[in-house]
Amino acid sequence: MTPATRAAVALAGAAAAGVGALAWGVAEAHMFTLREVTVPVLPAGQPDLRVLHVSDLHLTPSQHDKIAWVRSLADLAPDLVVDTGDNMAHVGALPPLLHALEPLLRFPGAFVMGSNDYFAPSFKNPARYLRADARTSRSSDPVRLPADELAAAMSSAGWKDLTNRRDTVVADGRRIALVGVDDPHLDRDVFPAAEPGGLPDVDLRMGVTHAPYVRTLDQMHHDGSDVILAGHTHGGQLCVPFYGALVTNCDVDRRRAKGLHGWPGPRPDQPGGEDSTWMHVCAGLGTSPYAPVRFACRPEAVLVTLTSGR
Ligand SMILES: [Fe+2]
Repeated sequence: MTPATRAAVALAGAAAAGVGALAWGVAEAHMFTLREVTVPVLPAGQPDLRVLHVSDLHLTPSQHDKIAWVRSLADLAPDLVVDTGDNMAHVGALPPLLHALEPLLRFPGAFVMGSNDYFAPSFKNPARYLRADARTSRSSDPVRLPADELAAAMSSAGWKDLTNRRDTVVADGRRIALVGVDDPHLDRDVFPAAEPGGLPDVDLRMGVTHAPYVRTLDQMHHDGSDVILAGHTHGGQLCVPFYGALVTNCDVDRRRAKGLHGWPGPRPDQPGGEDSTWMHVCAGLGTSPYAPVRFACRPEAVLVTLTSGR
């Protein structure tokens, strides 16, 4: 084989591998997965509390498989549902989104918004993905999404709107103090003032944010949250097997791109993590319609089982 032939064969092999990886990535974006984690954070003696964490649906009206899968999550009968935003990816997404969420809205719940609840996605240079923070390529004239209507629908179903707000929810008889912020990725976050009467008498304190920016995690940690739930990162979306995420699309480190961690230190059940807050990042269920690919990072919802052990 001549050098020119060897080069041509190598090039053809690389091209075939690229096409194969792309085809797999498109398929993987539809491999919806339920991940489960256990967080020993409840007061001693309490029974488990099951929290369904959903995030980053990025729904378009034609995504019937995702709609059916999300509806099926109601079979888990969670005690609480937390939605960490980025629900829509199309101006016509609200009716199908509410259809997808309708069985979940029967349970106690809480939510915050992400940038993809306020503004429709637009085509961006794929190379932006490799920047740590891709906000500089945001359109100057974005198409607005029906965020207010979505918030009204969720609120009317009883879910707690945590947009720069505090609230309390009762789930399986347990009182949970909630604190949330509007999307830090859009700099819309204004951390709520401290409770005027001090800490309420509750079983658990939970922080909820779309994007897990360091400033927000620090605020929730110092505010006394026992556990923080976040989305936004898509788990890195395009990951390297046995290495993980390359980017988080915010300033949190890539090792915390998804899963259960501690903040600011190691997990509270690990050496050195005694002063940390539990932190869970959901890799979410969607992608931008302009980059409908996931690799080594399946779309997910997460059943977070809170157990006693604090
Ligand atoms: Fe997202």
